[in-house]
Amino acid sequence: MGKLALTGGPKTVTVDRRKYRVPPVSEQAIADVVELMRKGETSVSPIVADFEREFAEFIGAKHALAVTSGTAALHSAVFAAGVGPGDEVIAPSFAFPTTATVIPAVGATTVFCDVDADTHNVDPADIARRITPKTRAIVVLHIWGNPCDMGPILELARPRGIVVIEDCSHAHGAVWQGTKVGVVGDIGCFSCQGSKILPAGEGGVLTTNNPEYYERAFILGRAEKRAELREEAWSRNFSFTGLGFKYRPHPLGIAIARDVLRHLNELNDMRDHQGAALDAALADVPAVVPQRVLPGCRRVYAYHFMRYEPEQLEGVTTETFLRALAAEGVGAGRIGYGRLHGQTLFREGFPYGPGRSMSTVSGHPVPDYANGPLPVTERLRETAFHGAPRFEVECPELIEQYAAAFRKVASAVDELLAYDKEQAGKRAAVEVSARTLNPV
Ligand SMILES: Cc1ncc(COP(=O)(O)O)c(C=O)c1O
Repeated sequence: MGKLALTGGPKTVTVDRRKYRVPPVSEQAIADVVELMRKGETSVSPIVADFEREFAEFIGAKHALAVTSGTAALHSAVFAAGVGPGDEVIAPSFAFPTTATVIPAVGATTVFCDVDADTHNVDPADIARRITPKTRAIVVLHIWGNPCDMGPILELARPRGIVVIEDCSHAHGAVWQGTKVGVVGDIGCFSCQGSKILPAGEGGVLTTNNPEYYERAFILGRAEKRAELREEAWSRNFSFTGLGFKYRPHPLGIAIARDVLRHLNELNDMRDHQGAALDAALADVPAVVPQRVLPGCRRVYAYHFMRYEPEQLEGVTTETFLRALAAEGVGAGRIGYGRLHGQTLFREGFPYGPGRSMSTVSGHPVPDYANGPLPVTERLRETAFHGAPRFEVECPELIEQYAAAFRKVASAVDELLAYDKEQAGKRAAVEVSARTLNPV
């Protein structure tokens, strides 16, 4: 196979990736933004309602509420679900921080659940173990664009009146058993931050089929929609004041997202085709396990994550394996997911200042079981890695070179072990010299 690029051999990925780059904002979106600016619609604009209607149609939801960010959508969702002090909400630690930080933000306790090593998604069996009479909601994350195992989760939630909130920030267009994620549970939350597959620069959308959740969500941060409140809505009590937040999205960002939405199905198809081709090419590569997609589901390749199994390469460390891939030209790397449990915010609840946190002022201490143990999460955070870029155009040549790079690295066990040993030696030498400088 040849010497690894890591140790001075030739690099496998030689295709210039710039050749496959597409402009981040289309000419059409630029024209739409300019038109809004010319009309002076830089704050209030009918484009927001147009986008909401089109997004609701895309998902198959009765309601879509555009907001300033995915985080604002999640905050609106936990509020709409009626979550508050004394309640517990089950959520993954293998997630973006705000998937879970919105829970202490409304005064509730986060109970972290473990994930499945193959799908990287929440494990329904572990959720079942963590349900208590205080469980008010479950937040699931369709991670990297891969739908969760929603059947058993809904079976647990429905008879208990537990609200299911889907964080779909990676999964615009992903499908679970014929239904788009975002309306499989009770409330869906989408990020439209610039790196997402439906980018608005910054923005987010909440989806639901439930009119009460919709009204509660918009009274929190988009009270200007008060005219839509039904006669009997509880939220009417707050129609003048709102509830202290302002989550109206920027129309210029919405114009950008609206343009992408028109092409999202085609873009998802093209990325799926490429992502699946790479996963198939990696099927016989030892130690690399592509993310598992459950039967009846359609994932979207928002991010292309995989898992590394060191045991299959005689214990070569994840660090060395990823460095070797990177040296071959594969943009591989890890992400900081899987570290939320144990953080001060979740151990103590929302802080009001030094020594004053939700758990000390509310009389609802965070129970010990809330923060773990999460063995699969802890292993996955060391072994899950981002193994390929988002392919924005057909690029079979690049995919072939990526697969060749993986194959080359996975077959160079002796070289990798030697590199690992050398690195460990260097670390030990640094430690010794640090101790010589700072004797204890
Ligand atoms: C899984 C997930 N949830 C929530 C968010 C929050 O979205 P935003 O950055 O739009 O607030 C992100 C954003 O990166 C995310 O990746």
